[in-house]
Amino acid sequence: MSNFKRTLVTAALPYANGPVHLGHLAGCYLPADIYVRYLKLKGEEVLFICGSDEHGVPITLKAKAEGKTPQQVVDYYHNMMKGAFEKFGIDFTHYSRTSSPVHYQTASEFFTILNNKGSFDQKESEQYYDEEAKQFLADRYIVGTCPNCGNENAYGDQCESCGKSLSPEDLINPRSKLSGAKPIKKPTTHWFLKLDEIQDKFLNEYVGSHKEDWKSNVYGQVKSWLDQGMQPRAVTRDLDWGVPVPVEGAEGKVLYVWFDAPIGYISATKEWAMKEDQNWETWWKDKDTRLLHFIGKDNIVFHTLIFPAMLYADGSYIMPDNVPANEFLNLEGGKLSTSRNWAVWLHEYMEDLPNREDELRYVLTSIMPESSDSEFTWKDYQARVNNELVAILANFINRVMVLTNKYYGGVIPNVGSTAEFTEQALYDRTNKAYDEIDRFLAEFRFREGLAEVIDLCRAGNKYLTDKEPWKTQESNPEGTAEVLYNCIKLTAHLGALLQPFLPNMARRIFKLLNTTKTEYRFDEAIDLLAGHKLSAAEPLIRKVEDTEVQAQIDKLNANKVNNTPAPVPAAVEEAKPQGKASITYDDFAKLDIRSGKIVSAEKVEGADKLLKLGIDIGSEVRTVVSGIALYYTPEEAVGKQVTILINLQPRKLRGIMSEGMILMAEAEGGRLLFVSPEGDAPVGSSVS
Ligand code: 2FM
Ligand code: ZN
Repeated sequence: MSNFKRTLVTAALPYANGPVHLGHLAGCYLPADIYVRYLKLKGEEVLFICGSDEHGVPITLKAKAEGKTPQQVVDYYHNMMKGAFEKFGIDFTHYSRTSSPVHYQTASEFFTILNNKGSFDQKESEQYYDEEAKQFLADRYIVGTCPNCGNENAYGDQCESCGKSLSPEDLINPRSKLSGAKPIKKPTTHWFLKLDEIQDKFLNEYVGSHKEDWKSNVYGQVKSWLDQGMQPRAVTRDLDWGVPVPVEGAEGKVLYVWFDAPIGYISATKEWAMKEDQNWETWWKDKDTRLLHFIGKDNIVFHTLIFPAMLYADGSYIMPDNVPANEFLNLEGGKLSTSRNWAVWLHEYMEDLPNREDELRYVLTSIMPESSDSEFTWKDYQARVNNELVAILANFINRVMVLTNKYYGGVIPNVGSTAEFTEQALYDRTNKAYDEIDRFLAEFRFREGLAEVIDLCRAGNKYLTDKEPWKTQESNPEGTAEVLYNCIKLTAHLGALLQPFLPNMARRIFKLLNTTKTEYRFDEAIDLLAGHKLSAAEPLIRKVEDTEVQAQIDKLNANKVNNTPAPVPAAVEEAKPQGKASITYDDFAKLDIRSGKIVSAEKVEGADKLLKLGIDIGSEVRTVVSGIALYYTPEEAVGKQVTILINLQPRKLRGIMSEGMILMAEAEGGRLLFVSPEGDAPVGSSVS
């Protein structure tokens, strides 16, 4: 890690307006996670920060379209994304959100410091205004005909049909997306970051100093922005959802989402530091800290130019040392798209193919769009899992386990040596793998790193096949023992090397070997000696069947027909009430709350968040549909004591009449916990 003492890794804050899909994972979260795991395995100090990006116009549009508040929309997706990342093993040190109070304060203070330093120009300009909705229109709120291709529904910032970047003025026949009215022009004031000045004073030199170490896809894009010349950019918007502009008279204006989102990295670090009693500034202001931003290619300009310009304008921060952006992942011949529902959603993958997280990590790492766009197809997924993970890795390990069982009752044979390997060639090959993987990962070359592990495994398979220990057991028992001894050692090293890429698989390998530890640092010797008993052999991975991939292909094709993403379910409002207005005692007295007990629970078909619960309230068993399925399996839910509001108007959810609402407490990270009486309150007793 050169001269740095610690590394702060951030992964782009995903927008809380839809679930996470495979493109997000391959582009940003998986490489970041592999890199962080790799640093930790080398014993380095590292912090891994992320959170939900909860502002911006698409969120307000979605809320409007679905009759929800923006807060309801972001609450829903924040919890969903956080849960999916956790399940998938993306091991953030802290996952926050930009609607948090710490973030509001941090972003607000950041703006104020820059404002006081004179980093902004305050300018009045003419913007489109909707007289019916009485609102200025952000670019995404204006649609019209694209001057380039004639698409009648181009947005004020981009035509999604031909991809051309637009400004609202370019649109022919502009109309408001809010009311359909023809917008008028009206003057409004905004704050513009003086990027032109900062380019001359800082950005040219900063970017120039990274010509050699930034990936060429990143450097090329940044250089072309600089060559065109940076222009002052508005960092405020006329909108009612976001961090309010902290200036008197700026009511109705908020910070532009791209101004506040990267500050989210700082606020998330602060939150973590408060929780852990650490100093956040060590991670942002100490020159011995290395700052790395993992992002997708559409975020490059913000992380290499605009955010560094903001940090420079403040003057007290370190700069991003590298921004290893990936290109895009396509899906079955098309561009992944949240709005067109052309995606494989992570939470659905985990539901449809449970316990196959590492298979997906394997495939996505193998095809990671590191230097150019790449493509995910289900057939390729199946081929890679079956022909590589199963046929090479699992097969080698299974052969080793079975032979050790057969000849030595599953105990590592004594070869009269405690050497790492008794075969020099295998020792050298393994060392080479460690060196190569270290080099590849340090250079963000994840595909090659993973391929090297599989290559090492190929070498193991070849060694075993060449030595044919099953033939020498009688004629040369020492020879057989040595071969198996070496193969067991190699299996352990394969486990160690797989840790950053496939953490579950690595643990399963360690479990098979019955190792003393569940994790081995890269510089740590693996403590497997003669006489050690391995666990019983069991298959490491299951083949992916034709029917499994066909079901996924069919599901995607069905999305093609019904191409609107699922709305935020109404049940969320029930699980997480948002109203905070004060109420009278009479209001409270209207609530009939009882203690109850869950006596039955089942999943609701087609709704991965919902459980259908039967709740015994003494006089009867009520049916309640509750959005808790991400946190409790039906088996875990049954038997739980709960608190239930029984006089809520019944309503139909997914065709099931829900007759009440159970009260849940939100734990850290959005996890939901049952609110239950202390001790034994009989079912049906009144709660007041
Ligand atoms: O493209 C996106 O999903 C943005 N929400 C990324 C923000 S990254 C950072 F600046 F917060
Ligand atoms: Zn167009």
